[in-house]
Amino acid sequence: MNFEPKLRGNVSLGVNPIGLKQDVANQINYVKKQGRYEGPKKVLIIGASSSYGLATRITLAFGAGADTIGVSFEKEPKSERNLGTAGWYNNVYFKQAAEAEGLVAKNFVQDAFGHQSKQDVIEYIKSEWDGKIDLVVYSLASSVRVDPDTGERFNSVIKSIGQTVEGPHVNIQKAEFHEHVLEPATDEEIADTVKVMGGEDWELWLKALKEADVLADGVLTVNYSYLGSELNRPYYGGGTLGQAKADCEVKADNINELLADIEGKATIVVATAVTTKASSVIPFFPVYCLGLYRVMVDNGTHETPIMHQDRIYRDMLYGDKPEYDAQGRLRPDSWELDPEVQAATEALIKEINADNFNTEKTGYDIFIKEFNNLSGFDVDGYEPEPVTIEELLALEP
Ligand code: NAI
Repeated sequence: MNFEPKLRGNVSLGVNPIGLKQDVANQINYVKKQGRYEGPKKVLIIGASSSYGLATRITLAFGAGADTIGVSFEKEPKSERNLGTAGWYNNVYFKQAAEAEGLVAKNFVQDAFGHQSKQDVIEYIKSEWDGKIDLVVYSLASSVRVDPDTGERFNSVIKSIGQTVEGPHVNIQKAEFHEHVLEPATDEEIADTVKVMGGEDWELWLKALKEADVLADGVLTVNYSYLGSELNRPYYGGGTLGQAKADCEVKADNINELLADIEGKATIVVATAVTTKASSVIPFFPVYCLGLYRVMVDNGTHETPIMHQDRIYRDMLYGDKPEYDAQGRLRPDSWELDPEVQAATEALIKEINADNFNTEKTGYDIFIKEFNNLSGFDVDGYEPEPVTIEELLALEP
């Protein structure tokens, strides 16, 4: 079979399963090269199939030797024309590699927002898992959530609040640099975005796990946030997603109370800007990345999700170099927010225009390669392998 990239705007519709297998292998090799570290042994990752969640799973399995349960919402292949989603193959190839090393890697491909997923994961831990969970990672990004009690459907929107924002944006499909206008969200849209991307479901997971007595004493739970800087505040920190992230901090306090008697802890990890399925569709954000990546690559501090997550767990959460802020949030984003990096990024962004956005002056090539890698294209070390649709249909997550 031949695999072709297919895009709609900044959304990739094509996948190359063999490229994804190589991409997962590359991430595993990155972690192995850093060596082993002492970390958690039994981990649940909600949103485990791509980018930050997948990278988390890979560093914990191949760096710390953790058994992992991954929950994700992905589509399986149906035919040559409908090959499913990239995360589905990431689940398959992660599991194959982890099991080959004697690790447990259980995948639940279902809606994490529903009560059923929570019950299924608990049932599995009670009946087949040897021990309790010592780390719960919440790395979910979604545009829709069905309330598990009422059945009501909520959509998250990426909008500004109280002001119209205008600025440059990139259409990846057309390789086009254009002006974009973002209208402010309504109160209902803000509330709905908090409902989807805020911390309510994170708290529901921890309540269900605690009630079922499957959390180990001293359990840690983390939720990935993004704060960004003045350069993206109008459409991120000060926008609907910023409100959702603020809600996660409120829910972290609730979870800390909930877990107090087992000495558990909830931590917000403010992660750095990376190229992911979720971040590519944030208006203006690709242009911020074009500036930021150029500056950070030139500084030697640019990170992909696996580099960032490996550093978070190895050096910070389970290492001796954690950086917490006054609110108790872990701040691995300090490299991105370094004032010199931000000043250089701002200066560069001001110079980016339709004539030079895709030249070496910017981080365009880096951004596009990382974007393509998410679907298994342009992956380092990739060798085409003959594969039939029957073989792909037979794969099991
Ligand atoms: P992603 O789109 O690559 O991954 C999202 C994950 O959520 C996937 O595993 C997907 O299957 C899963 N998912 C979505 N809906 C689901 C559902 N209903 N049930 C079960 N699983 C579901 O997203 P990314 O970028 O890795 O984001 C993860 C977290 O990291 C988000 O909270 C995001 O805000 C945060 N973050 C992202 C940054 C970035 O630059 N991409 C920066 C800092 C934080």
